[in-house]
Amino acid sequence: MGTTVVAIANQKGGVGKSTTAINLAACLVELRRRVLLVDLDPQANATSGLGAEKAIGGSLYGALLGLRSLLDSVRPTAYQNFDLVPSELDLAGAEMELPKLDHSQLRLRSALEPLRRSGYDYVFIDCPPSLGILTINALCAADRVLIPLQCEYFALEGLSVIVRVVEDLRAGAHPGLAIDGIVMTMYSSRTRLGQQVVREVVEHFPGLVYEALIPRTVRLGEAPSYGKPIIVYDPSGLGAAAYRLLAREFLQRNEVPATPADGATEPKEPPAAPEALAPPSASSGQAP
Ligand SMILES: Nc1ncnc2c1ncn2[C@@H]1O[C@H](COP(=O)(O)OP(=O)(O)O)[C@@H](O)[C@H]1O
Ligand SMILES: [Mg+2]
Repeated sequence: MGTTVVAIANQKGGVGKSTTAINLAACLVELRRRVLLVDLDPQANATSGLGAEKAIGGSLYGALLGLRSLLDSVRPTAYQNFDLVPSELDLAGAEMELPKLDHSQLRLRSALEPLRRSGYDYVFIDCPPSLGILTINALCAADRVLIPLQCEYFALEGLSVIVRVVEDLRAGAHPGLAIDGIVMTMYSSRTRLGQQVVREVVEHFPGLVYEALIPRTVRLGEAPSYGKPIIVYDPSGLGAAAYRLLAREFLQRNEVPATPADGATEPKEPPAAPEALAPPSASSGQAP
């Protein structure tokens, strides 16, 4: 199987994009997939949430300008098979500068080409909270878009905005773009609102909403300040369980053929998944 590039996008801030990027990626690594996370948000929440430093004078912005290779920006994380392109200070200037360039929407798509041949199963792009040129670049570079949606009033209004942008791209610049799904975040089963919102979204977008609901938990909110994915920070909590479920469902959507010829319905998975992410030298004793 080749590399699937997934943009994690929603123009609203604080809906769980970065949290989902970090934790879905980490859970897929736990399921023995090789993953790269590209932090395209100048605010660098995915970078710091993984305990990594924002790059200074790195090459992500240079790669968008076509001056450098994005390969130079790839950094290892504390975990095996989990790499990161950290956000960098220069990125904040991109919203102003990129639109002046030729093919301004397709810059990240070109920059990611060599990374599609680098053996990753999945490349996730954590988008900034806007529909500016960076998010459009992410959508044009992606095969699929995953939309985290906070369980709150007016969720559907916000959702229809991003869905319309995706439909426009499908009708023009990027016909191959697919919506992977909608992840309901900060769900509380104790209030009626959460259940109502989920029901409404499912009615409007049948088949798109992930069954794994991400609960609002104190631990999920704390984990980024320790620079750790939830399956490392609080491996047996509700948040870890929810993101593990999401990862399994994600693999069902992405790795199981729609019409299996041989009756197989389970994703190909290793016989035993490790209980926790392995640090780089844990199993091999060799530097990566
Ligand atoms: N399920 C959750 N439960 C509790 N806090 C959460 C949850 N998901 C995200 N948060 C917190 O809410 C804030 C916004 O989440 P974040 O993932 O950064 O959103 P976005 O990337 O969409 O702006 C962060 O402080 C994050 O730690
Ligand atoms: Mg974010």
